[in-house]
Amino acid sequence: MNSYRTHNCDELRLSDVDKDVTLVGWVDTVRDHGGVIFIDLRDRAGKTQVVFHPEVSAELAHQAENLRVESVIQVKGKVVGRLKTAEVDATNPDLATGEIEVEVHEMQVLNRAAVLPFQLDRSNTNEDIRLKYRFLDLRRPAMQRNMVLRHRITKTMRDYLDEQGFLELETPILSKSTPEGARDYLVPSRVSPGKFYALPQSPQQYKQLLMVSGLEKYFQIARCFRDEDLRADRQPEFTQVDIEASFITPEDIYNWIEQMLKRVFKESVGRDIVTPFPRMTWHDAMNEYGSDKPERRFEMKITDCSDIFANSDFRVFSSAVAAGGVVKAINAKNFAPSVGQIDSLTQTALEAGAKGLAYIKVREVANRDGWKSPITKRMKDEEIEALKQRLNIEDGDCVFFAAGDWEESCTILGRVRLACADFMEILKDNHDVDLFWVTRFPMFAWDKEEGRYVAIHHPFTRPVPEDVEKVLKGEISTELCAEAYDVIFNGNELGGGSLRIHERDLQDATFRALGMDEATINERFGHLLSAFSFGAPPHGGLALGLDRVVMLIGECESIREVIPFPKNNRAVDLMCEAPDTVDDKQLREIHIQVKLPEKLRQKMEAEAAAAEQA
Ligand code: AMO
Ligand code: AMP
Repeated sequence: MNSYRTHNCDELRLSDVDKDVTLVGWVDTVRDHGGVIFIDLRDRAGKTQVVFHPEVSAELAHQAENLRVESVIQVKGKVVGRLKTAEVDATNPDLATGEIEVEVHEMQVLNRAAVLPFQLDRSNTNEDIRLKYRFLDLRRPAMQRNMVLRHRITKTMRDYLDEQGFLELETPILSKSTPEGARDYLVPSRVSPGKFYALPQSPQQYKQLLMVSGLEKYFQIARCFRDEDLRADRQPEFTQVDIEASFITPEDIYNWIEQMLKRVFKESVGRDIVTPFPRMTWHDAMNEYGSDKPERRFEMKITDCSDIFANSDFRVFSSAVAAGGVVKAINAKNFAPSVGQIDSLTQTALEAGAKGLAYIKVREVANRDGWKSPITKRMKDEEIEALKQRLNIEDGDCVFFAAGDWEESCTILGRVRLACADFMEILKDNHDVDLFWVTRFPMFAWDKEEGRYVAIHHPFTRPVPEDVEKVLKGEISTELCAEAYDVIFNGNELGGGSLRIHERDLQDATFRALGMDEATINERFGHLLSAFSFGAPPHGGLALGLDRVVMLIGECESIREVIPFPKNNRAVDLMCEAPDTVDDKQLREIHIQVKLPEKLRQKMEAEAAAAEQA
């Protein structure tokens, strides 16, 4: 192949026997069979067994025996077939190169490895250690597979979008705050004292401005930065496949994304997925699954029971209905939760805003004493009967309730539903792919804390045609619908987008609906309003979370498994130790003085000391 090697470590077969070859790679394992040393040599492509016979060179065999794993070596030798007779079978069917081995007559050690901080073939290594030595962690075959998968998926998307006429363009990283609902990462300016750039939460405004510029179809594999609480599917910096196009309807976006994902599945993991994707309104998603990103691979749907309990003696339920709310229930079939599980499910409900979690464990449907629950004693026989019919209750089921406001009750049961499924291991070994669209999101939500409306997607999202007038007139409510859509994959939000506002007056009215005054609007979004005054085309788009796409297609536990150098759940890069302090000179240059409150400083010192001890 080049002067370092003639073949990679996944290449040699029986047909290559007798060839003189040169291989390079990492020492995966060293085994000594009565003085004959076997090394599995590994490169990105795979592994080849190389053999050192003491008869060929006692010194070489001795050197090989003393190599530490993960050292880098180059070997020259001859390909030989491995012994395979009725009595002895030295071949390895698990290895593509398992029918041959290379008899080494020359070796060069290119880099000797020290003792490793962790064993690469162990899967249960503490994640912090893995992240600290990420350069080693990435050598593990599973991680190499993830990186190859990431490349293949990105490449397929690029090719597809190029074929469809999209231009790949970059937008600034040092920019002005684009609100996407998270906190910004800020960068102080040296040249403009006291001023800050914001790292983009997404290229949203820039891509819209590219549409105003007449570029018509744009995409970017874009890095985005959001300072928010981290979870398994969130990173402070992540990558979007960001798309925008002019003169389109949502149908165009649906079609592009469906065709792109179809090709991605085929070319990355060889799976055929069904298109077009089904669609579901936000209202139905919330009402049936209690989530705007429903996991639909199991049923346990949320069922309305308001009518059954409108006049109930169980006041928690009847008063909720009287107050204009609902009583909702789910039936976890064949689930007998333990006391501990009930506590945990109640905690889940409380965290979602519930005041409690009413439940009935049904041991025996036919017998009222078989309905084990703190709430059934106040229920009439006909209520029990109606419930049984409505929820198809059978022996061994467990029913959970939420009573109150519709959206809140649905959300609570949505979380309880997922937690039950976890306990029941409903999705264990399930490899189904459920891809679909959620449409007709509300335009606004009411933020109790801030006492104002907030945008559900972002403030550039267009209302549906029938609600445009209301926004213009300032008739704002949570009833208004946005021309927005999310693509969901097995209960995860894979991407989201919308048609945008392209008219100055409608954009202005939307900013006002969000509680901004004229000065704020001009200061923060003057450029956008200006752009909309000089011939802005109707446009729209979407962004897919690339890391999530790779994580889900690769069936990985966490987004960190598919990002070469991720941060941990405290947004720290453990390998480089970022964030870090900088010296005073650097701070002076950017006109920054660091003043930590005394209490915080003490707390940090205590934490650092504790970490040092551990
Ligand atoms: P949104 O905020 O929905 O939309 O983001 C789009 C997609 O990006 C992924 N994503 C994340 N992935 C990892 N870590 C994070 N912290 C994170 N946050 C979001 C999700 C999400 O669906 N500008 C709009 C798109 C548009 O309207 O065109 C936007 O950013 O998969
Ligand atoms: P109580 O009558 O207050 O003892 O409540 C009986 C049961 O109903 C308890 O298990 C509570 O956790 C539960 N509960 C209270 N409020 C609600 C609610 N809004 N929705 C569902 N269950 C509730």
